[in-house]
Amino acid sequence: MLVSVKFNKINSEVIKKFLDLRPLYCVVKNNYSQKSDDLFKCYSDQGAFVGKYEPLNEQDYGRFVSKRAGSREPALTRQMSKLPALLTELRQFQEDLHRPPPVARDVMVTNGGQHGIYQCVDMLVDPGDPVIVNEYSYTGIHVTLKPLHPEIIGIPEDTDGLIPETLESVLQDRLISGLKMPKMLYIIPTGSNPSGTVVPEERRRKIYELACRFDFIIVEDDPYMFLNYTEQTIPSFLSLDTCGRVIRLDSLSKVVSAGLRAGWVTAPAPLLSKLELHMQGELLHSCSLSQAILHRLLVEREALATHLLSARALYRRRRDALHEALQPVNGLMEWSLPNAGLFLWARVRGVEDVYKMVFETAFNRGLMLLPGQAFTYDTSTPCQYVRLTFSKIRFEDMNIAASHLVSIIKDEQARTLQKPQRLATEH
Ligand SMILES: Cc1ncc(COP(=O)(O)O)c(C=O)c1O
Repeated sequence: MLVSVKFNKINSEVIKKFLDLRPLYCVVKNNYSQKSDDLFKCYSDQGAFVGKYEPLNEQDYGRFVSKRAGSREPALTRQMSKLPALLTELRQFQEDLHRPPPVARDVMVTNGGQHGIYQCVDMLVDPGDPVIVNEYSYTGIHVTLKPLHPEIIGIPEDTDGLIPETLESVLQDRLISGLKMPKMLYIIPTGSNPSGTVVPEERRRKIYELACRFDFIIVEDDPYMFLNYTEQTIPSFLSLDTCGRVIRLDSLSKVVSAGLRAGWVTAPAPLLSKLELHMQGELLHSCSLSQAILHRLLVEREALATHLLSARALYRRRRDALHEALQPVNGLMEWSLPNAGLFLWARVRGVEDVYKMVFETAFNRGLMLLPGQAFTYDTSTPCQYVRLTFSKIRFEDMNIAASHLVSIIKDEQARTLQKPQRLATEH
C-alpha cells in the first residue's frame, strides 16, 4: 500500500513528523565530527581519584551484599546466553570513554537503566537499610526501594547537584550517633531527573572521597550523559574509581530508543557476578535482537556520535526555546536553565502544594506537568516544585503552554490565599 502512495500525495504532516524524528535516523549517516572526541571523553586529564584509601578486595564486597543477593547460588545447568561480540565492544567502549583505573571489572547487558537500578537495589539493600539519594530523585529508584522500607537519607542539592558538604555532615553525625551507616548512594550525575543539574568534577571527587571514607558504593545512573549542554568534559565516577566503589549504569533509552531496552552495568567483578546470578533467575538474558542492535550501534561509533550530537543539538534547542517561552511565567515560578537532560525543575511561588494544581487544573487544561511529589520517597508530603519536560513538546506549542501555566498558577495562588489560615494555637 505504501508503494502505491503517490509522492505528491504525501501529507505535509507526515513529512513534518518525519523531520521531527530525524535524529533517530541520523545514525545511518557517516558524518563523524570533531566534537565527538569530547562527546566520548568521560575522564579527567587530572586522572583518577588519588587518596589514602585501599582498593576493596574480594572479601570486602561481602559486607555490601544484601542477604537475598548473598544467598543466591549458581545453578548446575543454567548459563546466561551472552553475545560475546557485544561484551567485547562494551568493554572497549567503557575503556575508551572512561579510562577506569585498573580494578577488576566487567559489564553486563540489562534491559535499560531501570533494570540496572532494580538489580543494584536488590544486591545492596536489606530491609530497613539507610540509602543515600538526592532530596528529589528519579521515581524509579523510589519505587524499587519501597518494598524494602529503607531509611531514606535525602541530601539537598543546589544548581551544581548534590552538596558534598551536607552529605559529609549528615554521615559524620550518623557515625557519632552510632546509627547504621548507608551502603549505597544513588546519584544521577549528569542531567539529574528531575533537577537537570550536572555535578562538577570537583564535587564528584569530594563525593568519591566520602564513599571511601564512610564506606559506601556509588551507583552512578547516567542515561543523560550525552545530553550535557555545557559541552564540558566531566569525569564519570567510574573514571575516578581507584578503589572499586562504583557501579555504573548506562542506557540508550534517552538518546536512541527507550523501546529497545538497551542498557548495561559496569561493576567491580565480585559485584558483577552477583548481578549475573540474579539475572540467571530473573530473565536469563535480555532480548538477543536488542543486543544485536546495540552491538551494531556501538560498532558504528562514528555514526553513533553523529546521531548523539544531533540529538543533543535538538534537545538544547528545545530547552532554550522552552526557557524563552516561559518568560511570562517568571515571577510566578523560579527555575534555572537545566545544564543537561530533558527536564526543567521549577518552584511555584505562593502555592504550598502543587498536587491539585497539576492533576486537576493543569490536566483539565491539557497541560501535563509532574508534581514534585513524584520525585520524593514519601509522596504524601506537600511540595512546591513541578517538573516540566522539553523532550516532546513542539516548538509551536511552547508559548501557548506557557500562557496556560500563567493562568493556572495565578488561579492556584488565589485559591491558596482564600484558604483559611491555621491559627498558631491550632495543631
Ligand atoms: C535517571 C533515570 N534512570 C533510569 C531511567 C530509566 O531508563 P530506561 O528506559 O533505560 O530503563 C530513567 C527514565 O526516565 C531516568 O530518568
